[in-house]
Amino acid sequence: MNKLQDKVVIITGGAGGIGSGIAKAMVKEGAIVAIVDLNEVTGKTMEKELQVVSPKSMFLQANLMDRENLGQIINTVVEKYGKLDVLVNNAHASKQATLEETTQADLDLSFGTGFYPTFYLMQAALPHLKESKGNVINFASGAGLAGHETQGAYAAAKEAIRGISRVAANEWGRFGINVNLISPIANSPGVQAWAKAQPEYYETVKSKIPMGRFGDVEEDIGRVAVFLASEDSRYITGQTIMVDGGSIMLR
Ligand SMILES: NC(=O)c1ccc[n+]([C@@H]2O[C@H](COP(=O)([O-])OP(=O)(O)OC[C@H]3O[C@@H](n4cnc5c(N)ncnc54)[C@H](O)[C@@H]3O)[C@@H](O)[C@H]2O)c1
Repeated sequence: MNKLQDKVVIITGGAGGIGSGIAKAMVKEGAIVAIVDLNEVTGKTMEKELQVVSPKSMFLQANLMDRENLGQIINTVVEKYGKLDVLVNNAHASKQATLEETTQADLDLSFGTGFYPTFYLMQAALPHLKESKGNVINFASGAGLAGHETQGAYAAAKEAIRGISRVAANEWGRFGINVNLISPIANSPGVQAWAKAQPEYYETVKSKIPMGRFGDVEEDIGRVAVFLASEDSRYITGQTIMVDGGSIMLR
């Protein structure tokens, strides 16, 4: 299992949920992973777990809302490992509210943790991705694609991320850089918290998943991220890959 042998990967929000599933799947394929997360406790725990398989992997504590520090994340990783092969923009926090009740603070949270870090980290990573002919993996959501109610701030940021991903795929294809998105459904801590708060809504969503279950963060989502970071997907770019048990079928 060495599809990502010695590839250097940055994963935002890599301390928990889908990000940690991707990190675990990638180190098993030989990658060196830098997980970037706000949560120092889960970050350090995950760092130890990853280092059992990939001793050079590390945790970087950062608040992605601090826009002026985003470039430093890329610099720190490149200074330590000498290159960057894959950027996974996975972190995203948001608050649910109807459009009517959505506040500037709700928009700032969703764009500040989702859209802006994705945009500025891609910009800062570009020179290094040109050298490595690397990959970007961004995150979309069925909430954005379908326009789920109470998800205005989140859906807007997610669709903005899809927009810049397609622009980047067009602009960066000539450099051999692939830019794709995963639109997942998975049993992350974020989803577990939501299931507790809105159990009926959770069951309704689950009942609409053709595969009948929420995905596993490592086995279902992480493995697809491995594919998108590997040579196997080198002719795929600008695509939103639905890893959602068939919930949304793009036509
Ligand atoms: N889980 C799902 O079913 C689902 C569905 C659709 C889309 N998504 C998307 O997949 C991605 C991962 O989702 P998840 O469910 O694993 O999320 P999660 O909420 O379980 O985990 C997010 C991680 O990001 C970190 N984080 C949050 N704010 C941060 C900040 N300001 N700076 C640094 N780190 C921060 C958290 O500490 C956490 O480790 C997100 O982009 C999400 O929108 C998930």
